[in-house]
Amino acid sequence: MKLSDNKAKLSFSNGSPEVDLPVYQGTIGPDVIDIRKLYAQTGQFTYDPGFMSTASCQSAITYIDGDKGELLYRGYPIEQLAEKCDYLDTCYLLLKGELPDATQRKDFHKLVLDHTMVNEQMQFFLRGFRRDAHPMAVLTGLVGAMSAFYHDSIDVHNAEHRDIAAIRLISKMPTLVAMAHKYGVGQPYMYPRNELSYAGNFLRMMFGTPCEDYKVNPVLERAMDRIFILHADHEQNASTSTVRLCGSSGTNPFAAIAAGVACLWGPAHGGANEAALNMLEDIQKMGGIAKLGEFVERVKDKNSGVRLMGFGHRVYKNYDPRAKLMQETCNEVLTELGLENDPLFALAKALEKIALEDDYFVSRKLYPNVDFYSGIVQRAIGVPVKLFTGIFALARTVGWIAQLNEMMGDPEYKIGRPRQLYVGAARRDVP
Ligand code: ACO
Repeated sequence: MKLSDNKAKLSFSNGSPEVDLPVYQGTIGPDVIDIRKLYAQTGQFTYDPGFMSTASCQSAITYIDGDKGELLYRGYPIEQLAEKCDYLDTCYLLLKGELPDATQRKDFHKLVLDHTMVNEQMQFFLRGFRRDAHPMAVLTGLVGAMSAFYHDSIDVHNAEHRDIAAIRLISKMPTLVAMAHKYGVGQPYMYPRNELSYAGNFLRMMFGTPCEDYKVNPVLERAMDRIFILHADHEQNASTSTVRLCGSSGTNPFAAIAAGVACLWGPAHGGANEAALNMLEDIQKMGGIAKLGEFVERVKDKNSGVRLMGFGHRVYKNYDPRAKLMQETCNEVLTELGLENDPLFALAKALEKIALEDDYFVSRKLYPNVDFYSGIVQRAIGVPVKLFTGIFALARTVGWIAQLNEMMGDPEYKIGRPRQLYVGAARRDVP
């Protein structure tokens, strides 16, 4: 980061001396005011619950322009990556900063695809779960348990360990997600086939059975790959910040990523795709398109506690670029499967149209986010609703690792330790 000529000056109405605060510039985006010495200089903290105006780190991985509705991975627009690259190219880019050349691409694909199998003990660990356990509960456990299986890559301060853990996590997440699914539906696990693509292998492990050959449908394979690309990273969101904070204690990479999985589960974050699809199904049961007006009125009524799931975003105050791409993929998948007239897709498009013209949503800059259409695509492919967030976790694993590794390599890295404004009882004696 570059020191700006501009300086911030903080003054106080009680006559305390003014404080000069340095200002730094990034490549693009807002400048930041450096308040690190504020407490030492003034004895005061800043107050920013929810990090509304606080940059928690410097990062060179992902950039979002929320007003424009732009998302860049290492500078490349998400639309171009979704069009010209596959998920493993995107992983390489996020981890290493540049797109791979032909040899690097071949080697990286081979490296990831050659490590898809998990330790056989993992399935005995999985057996401890109830069959009806939520896949995110299972995945939080399985990812955390990886640290018990791979002792040679748990030193987060060792760059080589971090690299090995990164490949293990990216390679094995599809296997673990598919195992969590198969366990829930009571089918035998499918061992990975390394000659398939990353997405094709995942589809086979999810939907194949040992009873017959599974032929990967290239349209669905491409759609799954695109879902992975669109979810690969999203700068300092809640789960990524969780991974950074968790990892900042020096814990092992598997434990830090498991913390990210747990955070992602929440309906305000990764769980929104599941919540959005459940919402569409509920509206459908209420009477479908004819009842949309009534539903939107409930959303607008603050006392109802109902939100339009898959709408709104802390950073995007414009159309989420991933939602546009996901809508495109939705069209392709539904056409391929002969589901062009899918009632939920029609309902989603009608709901989007109403919301985009309604002053409540327009004035609050609430637009569809990636989750609005991703549930419809996944449901059409055959993914159970309960597994949507698990697939998001699979895709986001690379982003979490890239961000964790960036933090560990940052000379300014410190354990994360927010401060507070204490409003409880002052010191008192027990009677
Ligand atoms: N439906 C109805 N009203 C909404 C919605 C929504 N989905 N989202 C925000 N609002 C309203 C709020 O009620 C608030 O109105 P007010 O100013 O009158 O009080 C205003 O818009 C601002 O909302 P906040 O909750 O303050 O915005 P915040 O940035 O904290 O929240 C969030 C962002 C959590 C994503 C929110 O928009 C939401 O709950 N959306 C639905 C869940 C969702 O789709 N999450 C996925 C996010 S993307 C991802 O994780 C991949």
